Amino acid sequence: MDPRINVVEKRLEKIGKVIAIAGGKGGIGKSTVASLLALVLADSNQKVGLLDLDFTGASTHTILGLEDFHFPDEDEGIIPPKLHGISYITITNFTQDHATPLRGQDITNAILELLAITRWDELDYLIIDMPPGINDTTLDIIRLIKKIEFCIVTTPSKITTKVVKKSVELLQELNVSILGVIENMTYPTIHYAKEAFPKSYLGTIPFDETYENAIGDKEKLLETSIANTLRNFTVICDKMC
Ligand SMILES: Nc1ncnc2c1ncn2[C@@H]1O[C@H](COP(=O)(O)OP(=O)(O)O)[C@@H](O)[C@H]1O
Ligand SMILES: [Mg+2]
Repeated sequence: MDPRINVVEKRLEKIGKVIAIAGGKGGIGKSTVASLLALVLADSNQKVGLLDLDFTGASTHTILGLEDFHFPDEDEGIIPPKLHGISYITITNFTQDHATPLRGQDITNAILELLAITRWDELDYLIIDMPPGINDTTLDIIRLIKKIEFCIVTTPSKITTKVVKKSVELLQELNVSILGVIENMTYPTIHYAKEAFPKSYLGTIPFDETYENAIGDKEKLLETSIANTLRNFTVICDKMC
């Protein structure tokens, strides 16, 4: 057995909740929800970590406005650099924001290595931004992080709803804890999530026209309706609300 697997549990033992932000598709707002949830929690004086596991399409650094891509400091492991009060690990720190074409076993190896070498502080929350789909990354973190809980993002689209529903069913079959489903980028006339996910429906996040202009700017991000809605999702943010 890979000896790093035993180290992972130890590295995560001082963390309260580990929440993976996932959904079966790309472009539905996973990175947006992960980044703004971390910001909102940090803004409410919670100790928060953010781990971007979307190696091939990392986006949280763009949303949060990370400009300095230096290799994290080391001291018996990697110390997560702080960004806006968030302990933050992204592959971009190791690649200087260049493309990372990883496949299959390389992805598993990179996740295992990151989880085994990162020295997270005592945290109330570790938010994980997941890549699209149920794939190697999903199966790896379910296997490696016993206390993982999933927050699922969907959108008001028949196509998205069908794909996300399958992801949720698979997670349920795997007995993984699901905190709930958030319908993102909603507009007044069409909603699918309440009906499609009656037991786990958490609420909606409206399409916010101000978001594009707020990207990269912490203060503006915290003023978006996305951030304001996330403050109210008590199931996720049980400690802060
Ligand atoms: N609530 C929202 N209001 C407006 N635009 C949004 C919202 N959520 C996401 N977006 C936009 O949708 C696109 C996909 O978002 P992103 O968070 O990168 O999704 P994913 O991580 O699922 O691929 C981005 O262009 C982002 O700016
Ligand atoms: Mg993303």
